[in-house]
Amino acid sequence: MINEMALIVAVTAGLGLLVALAGLGAMWILRERSIGAMLTVVAVVTVVATLGGVVAITLKMIIEGTPRDIVLSVVAMGGLVGLGVATVLARRVVAASRRLVDAVHAVPASGEFTPPTGLPAELGTIAVSLDHAYRRLRLAGERERALESARRELVAWVSHDLRTPLAGMRAMAEALEDGVVSDPGTTGRYHRQIRLEVDRLSGMVDDLFELSRIHAGALRLSRGRIGLGDLVADALAGVEELARAKGVRLTGEVDPVIPVQADAAELSRALRNLVVNAITHTPGDGTVVVRASAGDGVARLSVTDCCGGIPADDLPRVFDVAFRGETARTPTADGTGAGLGLAIARGIVEAHEGEIGVVNSGPGCRFEIRLPLSA
Ligand SMILES: Nc1ncnc2c1ncn2[C@@H]1O[C@H](COP(=O)(O)OP(=O)(O)OP(=O)(O)O)[C@@H](O)[C@H]1O
Ligand SMILES: [Mg+2]
Repeated sequence: MINEMALIVAVTAGLGLLVALAGLGAMWILRERSIGAMLTVVAVVTVVATLGGVVAITLKMIIEGTPRDIVLSVVAMGGLVGLGVATVLARRVVAASRRLVDAVHAVPASGEFTPPTGLPAELGTIAVSLDHAYRRLRLAGERERALESARRELVAWVSHDLRTPLAGMRAMAEALEDGVVSDPGTTGRYHRQIRLEVDRLSGMVDDLFELSRIHAGALRLSRGRIGLGDLVADALAGVEELARAKGVRLTGEVDPVIPVQADAAELSRALRNLVVNAITHTPGDGTVVVRASAGDGVARLSVTDCCGGIPADDLPRVFDVAFRGETARTPTADGTGAGLGLAIARGIVEAHEGEIGVVNSGPGCRFEIRLPLSA
């Protein structure tokens, strides 16, 4: 009887060991596959070990022990084999998740995440998602830092741009007050100069206010159905004097009635900024063309000039706040601005769900505003 039981245990244990080894081999092959697939291996190992034991014992007709003992020992052996393989799997999963957690803890302040390799599929997916999330965080951090430094530079530049003309105005006002200058020619010039500077400074303060509203998301558009033809005509009329003074030819080409849902005042301001830039950067005798056209559900407003082209490196930066193309930030006599015009234009166009872009074209460049067409 004892011998029979020993034989039963030996046969089932031997078989179980073989099945367990096969199962562990299968799990090793499947180590980077789903944990579900490995759990299936555990279940299959348990069932095969139990069935194998039963088949082996029933085939060996020599055995005549109590059926209960035989059944119990065969099932127990199958269960033990399953338990062993399941334990190996559990340890492997725990070790893999620990490697993942360690990799997250090892992420430096710069946000450089190195995903561990050889993980089961589910953990591998989490590692890939974490990698993407860290990459997005890094990009957001870089963008935030760039914006912060641009903001700091803007404050420094703007205070410089405000202070310099204020100092000049103060000197002129003092000279007038003390009677240091009294001949009508000079006093007239000083008064005119002071008024021009005041105009320029209030324009700049106005631009800063507009930009801060755009950045705060506080730009309230009062939209209505407007025709781009009117918009172009208004923009051209507003800068006629400037163009004439510079000797720049100004022309408008408008497709018949193109309606868009837009805030006329804000969109005019964006277009005006483009046209003023185009005139400023086009030499006398050059041409500036403002065009309104439509197609493919998009309305296009373009301003083409003869500026000689914008350096390729500067093209993606012209819409940045305070970008002025040259490094020196001395306000020049012809009143070049603070580098806010294009940032404001972009803010206004994006608030209208539109896009703005620039390309070099022919003897100059072409700025283009694209807006969804009104249905
Ligand atoms: N039509 C253009 N041709 C060539 N360069 C341009 C043109 N428009 C803009 N730029 C370049 O982009 C820079 C930024 O333009 P933006 O309108 O934002 O600022 P600004 O004209 O210098 O000042 P502001 O518009 O605030 O008075 C300009 O200083 C210039 O270097
Ligand atoms: Mg400008």
